[in-house]
Amino acid sequence: MNSITVKDLFKTYKGALQPTLEGLSFSFPEGKITGLLGPNGAGKTTTISILCGLVRADSGEVRIHELLQGAAHREAIKKVIGIVPQQIALFPQLTAIENLVYFGNLYGLKGKSLRTKVENYLEQFGLEKAGNKEVHKFSGGMKRRTNIIAAILHDPQLLVLDEPTAGVDVQSRSMILQFLREYNKKGVSVLYTSHLLEEAQSLCEEVVIMDEGKLIIQGQPMALIQQNAGCRNLEDVFLHYTGHALRD
Ligand SMILES: Nc1ncnc2c1ncn2[C@@H]1O[C@H](COP(=O)(O)OP(=O)(O)O)[C@@H](O)[C@H]1O
Ligand SMILES: [Mg+2]
Repeated sequence: MNSITVKDLFKTYKGALQPTLEGLSFSFPEGKITGLLGPNGAGKTTTISILCGLVRADSGEVRIHELLQGAAHREAIKKVIGIVPQQIALFPQLTAIENLVYFGNLYGLKGKSLRTKVENYLEQFGLEKAGNKEVHKFSGGMKRRTNIIAAILHDPQLLVLDEPTAGVDVQSRSMILQFLREYNKKGVSVLYTSHLLEEAQSLCEEVVIMDEGKLIIQGQPMALIQQNAGCRNLEDVFLHYTGHALRD
């Protein structure tokens, strides 16, 4: 089964001169750590937002675990997916525990079992001493780790993270990447977006590289590097397909 299937997505934001997505198609099999990669402005966040049902495409379709994204399956898909958005989505004036209990409640989790789960995850993410602190006092890395916990309380089968390592310290970054590897070993599919091709190369079993709303190439990082003579890493592969011209 595919965890994600994207077919012929088109999207132009209201008032925009250029389309953001222009016929994007790709699919990822279940159970892998996969990457949706591309430079800033490529359309990654828009794609993720459509996948998760937060933004509507102008045309095309998206399937999550073979369920067609749309009104009929929105609730079912919500249970399957955990989303870590690019912008931190936490209440700054609430403590980490208050935030996490709130998000747990949104997924129908309650009481002692939710509380225990929150405490266990805080410990796993090195936040056991921070649970009763207000989130606005947190560092970028602490906020990001809290945001990841918020996305996994309901035990999703597919975890989607939009630039989860942007704006975090080295230790947080390393912990987040290690967590993703371990979480994936439990059978959870992971889709992560990044403009950091080097990071993706070591983390992902399969990647899609996109640019300007279109697919550039899909494959396993090592295979993509070996297929293209003279390419030593994914960055070379990207430049090989898109040219070296500067974007301003
Ligand atoms: N809400 C929006 N309204 C108008 N334009 C948008 C909106 N969101 C994104 N865009 C435009 O779409 C393009 C792709 O953005 P985005 O999906 O955020 O790319 P990425 O996540 O790869 O950086 C950019 O040119 C951006 O300015
Ligand atoms: Mg983005």
